[in-house]
Parts: sequence; C-alpha cells; structure tokens
Amino acid sequence: MIMRRIELMIPSESMRMKSSQINDGSIRITVGMGTCGISAGAERVFNKFLNTIRRQGLNDIEVVKTGCIGLCWLEPIVDVCKGGDKATYVNVTLEMADRIIQEHLFNDRVIKEYTMNNEAMNAYKRQKRIALHNCGIIDPENIDEYISRKGYHALHKCLTELKADQVVDIIKMSGLRGRGGGGFLTGRKWGYVRDSESDVKYVCCNADEGDPGAFMDRAILEGDPHSVIEAMAIAGYAIGAKQGYIYVRSEYPVAVKRLRTAIIQAREKGFLGEYILGSSFSFDVDLRLGSGAFVCGEETALMRSIKGSRGEPRPRPPFPAEEGLFGKPTLLNNVETFANVCQIINNGPEWFSSIGTERSKGTKVFALAGKINNTGLIEVPMGTTLRQIIFDIGGGIANGKKFKSAQIGGPSGSCLSEDYLDTPMDYDSLASIHSMMGSGGLVVMDEDTCMVNVAKFFLEFAVDESCGKCPPCRIGTRHMLDLLTAITTGEGKLEDINKLEKLAVKIKETALCGFGKTIPNLVLSTLRHFKKEYEDHITMRQCVAGVCKPLLTYQIDKEKCTDCSLCAKICPAEAIVSISDNRYIDVEACTKCGVCMERCKFGAIIRG
Ligand SMILES: Cc1cc2nc3c(=O)[nH]c(=O)nc-3n(C[C@H](O)[C@H](O)[C@H](O)COP(=O)(O)O)c2cc1C
Repeated sequence: MIMRRIELMIPSESMRMKSSQINDGSIRITVGMGTCGISAGAERVFNKFLNTIRRQGLNDIEVVKTGCIGLCWLEPIVDVCKGGDKATYVNVTLEMADRIIQEHLFNDRVIKEYTMNNEAMNAYKRQKRIALHNCGIIDPENIDEYISRKGYHALHKCLTELKADQVVDIIKMSGLRGRGGGGFLTGRKWGYVRDSESDVKYVCCNADEGDPGAFMDRAILEGDPHSVIEAMAIAGYAIGAKQGYIYVRSEYPVAVKRLRTAIIQAREKGFLGEYILGSSFSFDVDLRLGSGAFVCGEETALMRSIKGSRGEPRPRPPFPAEEGLFGKPTLLNNVETFANVCQIINNGPEWFSSIGTERSKGTKVFALAGKINNTGLIEVPMGTTLRQIIFDIGGGIANGKKFKSAQIGGPSGSCLSEDYLDTPMDYDSLASIHSMMGSGGLVVMDEDTCMVNVAKFFLEFAVDESCGKCPPCRIGTRHMLDLLTAITTGEGKLEDINKLEKLAVKIKETALCGFGKTIPNLVLSTLRHFKKEYEDHITMRQCVAGVCKPLLTYQIDKEKCTDCSLCAKICPAEAIVSISDNRYIDVEACTKCGVCMERCKFGAIIRG
C-alpha cells in the first residue's frame, strides 16, 4: 500500500477533556443521558443545570451529556468535577439539582446524602471495563472527547504500522469471540472474509439487539459510538472493504441520533471517507434502520433487510463470508464485538487474552434486569460466576425475596436454577450445562415467578417473531404454545410434558435457521430444571407462585377475619359478599386479581 501523508490529529492540551484536568479548578457537570437516564428524567435535570448556569453567566462551567454508566437503578446520575474532586449524585430530582448548584457549585460543599453510597461504588469497582471503557465518561456527541481517550489511535496504528494480514492476526491472537450470541472466533471470521476473492466486500455491524431485557449494545452505541465506527474502519482495512453498514433497530432513537452525529464528525475529521488519514485506504459507514423484527438479527435475514427485501433467513452455506450483502463477501460482527477491537489494537492481543478464561477471553457485558436490586449494565471478566454477578455486583434479589432462576442468553437461551449459581459465565461452562452465553441479557426471577408461565411467555414471543418461512418453526412453536396454555389453565395432561419435549427437539433438528434451531431451548431448560412445577400444574392444578390465575382459588379464613369489610370495598369485581353475617368469595364473580389478599391486614385471605 502506498502511504500518503498520515497524521492523526492528537488533541492539544486545551482540547483534552476537562474531567481529566485534575487540578486546574475547572468545573464540569456530566449528566447521564443514556435511554435509562432520559427515561428517569435526566433531560429535565440537564436543562436545569444548563439554564441556571447560563442565567448566572457562568460560561466557564461545562455542562455535558454522557451515556449510561451502568448504574441504571440510580439514574438520573450527575457527576460534578470541581478542581481535582468528583462527586457523583444519584437519583437526582429538580429540587436536588437546585441544592447541588447552591451548595456544591457556589459554596463548595458536597451534599453527602445525595451521593452514591459505598455499596453502589463497590459494585461498580468490581467490574473490568473494556467494551464500556468510555461509556458514562465522555460526551458521545463530541469526537474530541473520544480522541482524547486514545480514540482513532488504533485506526492510525493499523494504517501506519500494520499490514492488513497483521491486523487479522492480532485479532486472532487476542482470542476474541463474537459477542452476538454464537461466540464464533472473530479473528477466524475476519480471516475467512479477507481470503474471499472479490473486488467488493462489506463490513456490517449487527445492532438489532432484540432479546427481551437486553440493552448492552444500545448502551455502547449511545455512550461510545465512535468505538464501533473506528473498529468497523479497522475491519474494512483488514478484509479489504470500502463500505460498512450499521443495522440498528429504529426503536433505539437516541443511539441512531448519536451514531448519525458520530459518522458526520468522523467524516469531517477524515477518519471516514476517501484516503483516510492521508493513506490510500477509503472507507465509509451508513446506517440502516430495522423495524423490530427479532429474526432480522439473524445474519442472512439482516443482510436481506439491508437490501430492502423482507427480512427472512436463508439456508447456509453459502456463509456471508463468501456470499453476503448484495452477494458479496461480508463481515458481520456484533456491536460489543467491535467495541473490543480498538482496545485490542491499542493494548495488544496478549493483554486482552490475559483476561478471562482459557477459551473465553476478555470480558462480557451483561444487562441485569428483573427482580434484582441493582438493575443496570455490568462488564466483568469471562469466568465470573452467576452468583458473583447477581449477589456481589447486582446487590441480590429485590424486596428480600428468594432467588429462583436466572434467564440467560435471550429467548434462545435458558432458565438456570439455584443449583447453577456457581457456574462460571464463559462459553464452555455454559455449553456444558446445555445453556449459552447469548448476547448478555440476564433476567433474574424470584420465588413469585411461575416457570411454566415464563416458558409460555417466551413461546408467545417465538410465535409472534417466527418469520413463518419454515413449517417446523411456524407450526411447531404454535403447537408448543397450545400445550403450555393448556397446562397453565388447568387443562394439561401428564403426557403433554413428553409431547413438549419431543416437539422441542424436532423443531431444533428441522428448522431452517438459528431462530427455530434455538428457540425451543428455553422450554427445554424449564423442563430440565423445574419439571416439578409442570407436574404440580397438571396433577394438583396448583401454581405455587400464584401466577396462573385459572388455577388459583381464594378463600376467607374465618378465624382471622375481623369483619372490617375492607376486602369487600376494594374488590373490583364485587365478588366478596355477605349473606346473614357470613362473608365469602363468590368464585363465579372472582377474577383472581389477588387485591383482597394483598390488602388484608390480618392475613385472612388464603390462596389455594
Ligand atoms: C434469531 C436470531 C437473532 C439474532 N439476533 C442478533 C442480534 O440482535 N444481535 C447480534 O449481534 N447477533 C444476533 N444474532 C447472531 C447473528 O446471526 C450473528 O451470528 C452475529 O451478529 C455475528 O456477530 P459476532 O460474531 O460478533 O457475534 C441472532 C441470531 C439469530 C439466529
């Protein structure tokens, strides 16, 4: 390759982030404005700081937005950096913002009771942040802040010091595996596309993220869009592509907006476009928006959707590495996979492969959702156990309830029971227990969860999201849902358990694409780990968690009842009646909403 003049605009000292200017007395207020922050009211808090400070003419105080730092349960979060000190304020309201301005900014007094407590601080510190290293720190809409933290240095290094094959080798040596679900070796995939003969090749980024409860990719795109764009340019250089596409779901408007801004800024600085950094390498990135069909996350369906065709998968081979987008060799990687690439180039493959386990290198980002105290985003070394994630970092189960199950790997994954809490989260350990890492969604369930109902929920998702192209998936999942509906409504028979198992295995064996091949996994896992619950629903018509309404009955315990009549007053169905001083529940009228039991102060309503 003929190199022309290659320069990387390293930001001057004055352009460096104020937050890294430890003792210069400058003030920077950073408001968490990922989707989690915005939905908790961060936009109003941001405006409050900005307007008050501008009104007072304090133009040297910087007020900036940042992405999600991972502590979603504490949003809105505001960092105040003053001189060398930083205070992190959590769950900030407009009233709190007023006090912070008065006391902290004007009178130099940190309001201790508003700041993050030690428990949250410790949870944060237990992590190792590689893919998320800029999230919650930089302003994602300001490319200079990205550059000030070694942004675009990796691309510069590739273009000036490394041949394309060497870049592929570095990724191979790092041991990085795809974070989109399958865990395929990233360097090997890059090598296949590099070796495919073609004058035109493409790089695609899969930002479709459809798993219920998953928001890892969204947080990266909202918090650090340039890390993905830079990695795509590096991939383009390595495999010989000039064009990249990010396929992002349109339900992520904040991510889409920040990506658009980042692409424009990268073009303006010469990191995208013709003759990047003065080299002979040209590469550009465009966005394509998905419309929320889960199956469009599958690689062949995604590429059809980018083309403008209906998002349906096709059989493989040929694999996208030989015949992908527009029939050309295509490299597809997940957002989090790309977010690791620049760190590997900057710090070396040995550094990366020293983190994690023997065959699962680096870290993994998990989205913690469900009945867990610390809902949010965490990044931990591969091999961290489920127990450490849920109890040490996630703060345990909400409302003092007991742990029942963790659903990992999205709808194609599995529900693990308490027995598996010490399983290391790495590709091989999870595969050895018939589970999978998936993309990183982790939904925690407590003792009030009915596992048969959970299986039914995911089957409803499967039926809705099946593209309908192949009969095993289209018809088979419908049959499985019918069986689960019968079991949860008291119409099930014991032989239905066997039928469910057989159908699940058949669908896995015969479906056309990864969706049908994996979607029965979740039901199989509940049958494996929670079979007794299925049997109780069928033989005793009992739902221990009290979720499956058709199986529930409510009665009044006459010994405990004080005749206060609160239950009768609040019953929305007017199903609690008194005849000759005898209070009882009319089973025909009762909708089994459970409000009477929840509100009775004397524990006089019993559920059967
Ligand atoms: C039904 C289905 C949905 C998928 N959804 C996603 C998704 O939302 N994001 C993603 O990165 N990969 C998804 N995948 C996996 C992709 O097909 C592909 O393997 C992945 O994007 C490759 O990137 P990686 O090697 O970096 O993991 C899905 C697969 C299937 C079968």
